[in-house]
Amino acid sequence: MSVLKAMKDTKGVLEIDPSLPYKVADISLADFGFKEMKLAENEMPGLMAVRKKYGSDKPLKGMKIMGSLHMTIQTAMLIETLKELGADIRWATCNIFSTQDHAAAAVAKAGSAAVYAWKGETLEDFWWCTEQALTWPDNSGPDLIVDDGGDATLYVHEGVRIENAPTLLDKVYDSRDMQCLIARLKVSYERDPKRWTKIASKIRGVSEETTTGVHRLYHLARSGELLFPAFNVNDSVTKSKFDNLYGCQESLADGIKRATDIMLAGKIVAICGYGDVGKGCAKSMRGYGARVLISEVDPICALQASMEGYEVVTMEDAAPVGDIFVTATGCYHVITGEHMEQMKDEAIICNIGHFDNEIQMSYLDNNPDFIKENIKPQVDKWTLKSGRSIIVLAEGRLVNLGCATGHPSFVMSSSFTNQCLAQIELASKQYEKKVYTLPKQLDEEVARLHIDKLGVKLTRLTQYQADYIGVPVDGPYKADNYRY
Ligand code: NAD
Ligand code: ADE
Repeated sequence: MSVLKAMKDTKGVLEIDPSLPYKVADISLADFGFKEMKLAENEMPGLMAVRKKYGSDKPLKGMKIMGSLHMTIQTAMLIETLKELGADIRWATCNIFSTQDHAAAAVAKAGSAAVYAWKGETLEDFWWCTEQALTWPDNSGPDLIVDDGGDATLYVHEGVRIENAPTLLDKVYDSRDMQCLIARLKVSYERDPKRWTKIASKIRGVSEETTTGVHRLYHLARSGELLFPAFNVNDSVTKSKFDNLYGCQESLADGIKRATDIMLAGKIVAICGYGDVGKGCAKSMRGYGARVLISEVDPICALQASMEGYEVVTMEDAAPVGDIFVTATGCYHVITGEHMEQMKDEAIICNIGHFDNEIQMSYLDNNPDFIKENIKPQVDKWTLKSGRSIIVLAEGRLVNLGCATGHPSFVMSSSFTNQCLAQIELASKQYEKKVYTLPKQLDEEVARLHIDKLGVKLTRLTQYQADYIGVPVDGPYKADNYRY
């Protein structure tokens, strides 16, 4: 049920009210949020260093920043940091199940951002929250966007596409997400047929958090449709080789266990995709004593998995033998209805990739013969016609944020320090409408900010050694295309 049932709607679309200071589940949770944020300070040295280094200069002063990123305690810490750097911020989550309500309440109560997010949004709520966050009280849009998965970027780009070719409004979409978005853009177009064009023209840039969002950006750039400059934060080494890998290594098990309390030791866990996320997931499951199967399309990743000692199989092989299935590909319908029909009774299936289409949920949702029993929020037992059941976590949405609280603060500090540096870049320089990555020197700087906390003693190159291997004595130590 939508939290927004009291809002006025026009043609089935919830009205936005940009003067609304926030919409959260329960503002009385703010004190709990503040306490957890205080604890997070010790675990987020990168963000604390950014506050210290840039807090007095306020490089984001006068910048209106819109965020579309999981509204967790770690994100609350990012928001506070951006605020301390001078920004005027509005925020929505990027997934209907990922908000930590005490984090949203803390941000709202502190007034650090106008926040619209709660755990368990409907898709209509989700797109309303996104538009609320994109619209300032004077009806203007943002200067900068922090995006995770590309939905805020999509909102603006689809708005402009429709304003340039209004017949696109008649296009029929299968995806409920697109149906909700287009319904909103229809109302927006009727009121002001140039609204998103005006908003897009003022946007200085976006910094994108995740692999799937970055794929969307390169796609826009290749087709010449990218409307503003973009920073690919995901491909900073201190993001993808830490958050995607070590973050998922801890938060996948957290999600599965909070949802099901299952014993992992001895189980067969099939992981689809052996990229950064899949590698972290596989290591974690093996660490618990599970037997891990991998499916891959890329022969290099398949070879890596095999040489790590995992059995590399197809989903057809894995379906009848697996106890737990995890998708980590960013791809589409990797687990299909046919696979589900092959699975053991009470097999668990979940996804840790960004979007909810890695598992063919429509096979379950659209079959009137299947019985769905809700065990608890974000855990459903589906009984198929065969009489066998499967347990689906977070309705196929990312399990670590839907069933648990996402990655721990320390690794998010590394990701979010890159986000802050990208936002400062976009605020302070004019970039072209291309996709950029942060320079290696800044990547090394982000790592440097996190090693003291772990008691790391770094070896210092002598000038002679630096000359011998041909690098500057203070870095960067590796070529830009070096793969970690
Ligand atoms: P990646 O590109 O490094 O890895 C994906 C892997 O999946 C690739 O090796 C690819 O070859 C493989 N693959 C693609 N299609 C496949 C298929 N049909 N079957 C089997 N394998 C297939 O990407 P990544 O950084 O590992 O990210 C994976 C997903 O996780 C993305 O959607 C990303 O946005 C998301 N992500 C989620 C979190 C989280 O906290 N839940 C964190 C980081 C990234
Ligand atoms: N992505 C993965 N974990 C996260 C977290 N804790 N906060 C925000 N985004 C995340």
